[in-house]
Amino acid sequence: MVKVKKKTISKGSMTSVQEEGKDILIVNLNGKYYALDNICPHLKCKLSKGKLDGKTVICPCHGSSFDVTDGKLVTWINDWPDIIGNITGKLGLSKDLETFDCSVEGDEIVVDTGEKPDISDKKRLVALIIAFLLGWFGGHRFYVNKFGTGLLMFFTMGGFGMWYIVDMVLITGGIFKDKEKKPLKKWL
Ligand code: FES
Repeated sequence: MVKVKKKTISKGSMTSVQEEGKDILIVNLNGKYYALDNICPHLKCKLSKGKLDGKTVICPCHGSSFDVTDGKLVTWINDWPDIIGNITGKLGLSKDLETFDCSVEGDEIVVDTGEKPDISDKKRLVALIIAFLLGWFGGHRFYVNKFGTGLLMFFTMGGFGMWYIVDMVLITGGIFKDKEKKPLKKWL
């Protein structure tokens, strides 16, 4: 998820933002926002340095152009003679650009990059209740799919009580992790 202030992109302009390992182009077309890959598939030039012509963004390097509303390729290596374009075109794939869902929340543009947040889907409150009631038997560890350590707790009565207490503290503090090593942050 990437957020950008609306006021930074006036109508008919574009900007780019780098986040979560992605380089994203955001375009304001008459008040409607579009987000797509900022990297040209030919030789990786940044499209944000190019030109916007209506709903088409033109690559600054060799003129390939793309429809910003759906990422579709419009023209491929337009600026070069066909023979050079045909040769260098082989260096990069002529393909459409990846697009991202874009919405407006208050004064911000929110781009959904599709990245999953690095926190567990399991609920902290549920884990805490299970740990409180069944922690001696590793119940909360079964809840987060840690079956190995769950069984170990089961057979050692929660590590003779010590492990049980440590886990209760970790869960309360939002540090306890599930099987994929993602912390349980959400209470509900
Ligand atoms: S890098 Fe974009 S057209 Fe060559």
